[in-house]
Amino acid sequence: MKIKGSTNIVGLIGHPVEHSFSPPMHNAAFKKLAMDYAYVAFDVDPDNLKSAIIGAKSLNIKGFNVTIPHKIEVLEFLDEIDEVANLIGAVNTIDFKNLKGYNTDGIGAVKAIEEITSIKNKNIVIAGAGGASRAISFYMAKFGAEAISILNRNVDNAEKLAGDVLESGLIGNVKSDSILDIDDYLDSADILIDTTPVGMHPNINDNPIASGENMHEDLVVFDAVYNPNETVLIKEAIKANAKPVYGIKMLLYQGAESFKIWTGRDAPVEVMEKALKQTLNLK
Ligand SMILES: NC(=O)c1ccc[n+]([C@@H]2O[C@H](COP(=O)([O-])OP(=O)(O)OC[C@H]3O[C@@H](n4cnc5c(N)ncnc54)[C@H](OP(=O)(O)O)[C@@H]3O)[C@@H](O)[C@H]2O)c1
Repeated sequence: MKIKGSTNIVGLIGHPVEHSFSPPMHNAAFKKLAMDYAYVAFDVDPDNLKSAIIGAKSLNIKGFNVTIPHKIEVLEFLDEIDEVANLIGAVNTIDFKNLKGYNTDGIGAVKAIEEITSIKNKNIVIAGAGGASRAISFYMAKFGAEAISILNRNVDNAEKLAGDVLESGLIGNVKSDSILDIDDYLDSADILIDTTPVGMHPNINDNPIASGENMHEDLVVFDAVYNPNETVLIKEAIKANAKPVYGIKMLLYQGAESFKIWTGRDAPVEVMEKALKQTLNLK
């Protein structure tokens, strides 16, 4: 990639950002399509968030991804917020054309799962009630899930999220419960989504949130954890002959969606996936 006088800049703001996998993924896509764009990471101290957004607009930066700790605070510096991002209350993508914020994390999960099955009319169990669960829950509702059960260690957090999703009017059936009761939910579930960090590096030998013994063969099992690629939960799904969906796919498709928002072009997902796997040292 050659940086020229005409090169368009997109990037990431977060704190810290140096271990991000997004620059190699997006730059591989720009290279593949011979687009005059470059993606860079900016470490922005929380105290400087407002001036970073104003400055980026003045510098004619085309788009940002937004990561921890800015996903919620950045909302107040935007002119427009996409409807679902507004319900979620967090954005991970900014389009500077109209200073509009989007949340592509949830849609990343939708697209990852849709490689195997559609979301529509499905009975979905979601473990965890943090930021990833929030983005994913609203998007499952938006894409026509029949029922969502949010199971969490702290049941109050699950109840609060379930209430917010119900209140959105996107879906009529949202329950909350303890993650300890997960086995009771698997028989009637079509899709299990794990948004807890259980099994994440370096704790790769954690007890999985659910055992393969309780999974049926048609169950789609998506683990948002992407390091390691094959988590303890995915191992259980494989053992049970269920249908595994790997966390890296969510990373991939959230990036592909951001790419489309900024450039108006479909992202070259195969090239982006290859770059991601290289960055994460996966095969
Ligand atoms: N693939 C992707 O693109 C992608 C994107 C975003 C996040 N993620 C992954 O998703 C995971 C969660 O991220 P997040 O931002 O949602 O984190 P978060 O906001 O901190 O939420 C963590 C959730 O996991 C639960 N939890 C934490 N430790 C647990 C344990 N030992 N046993 C059972 N439940 C536990 C928490 O329960 P309490 O409410 O009880 O504390 C909470 O509901 C991380 O592993 C992250 O890497 C992946």
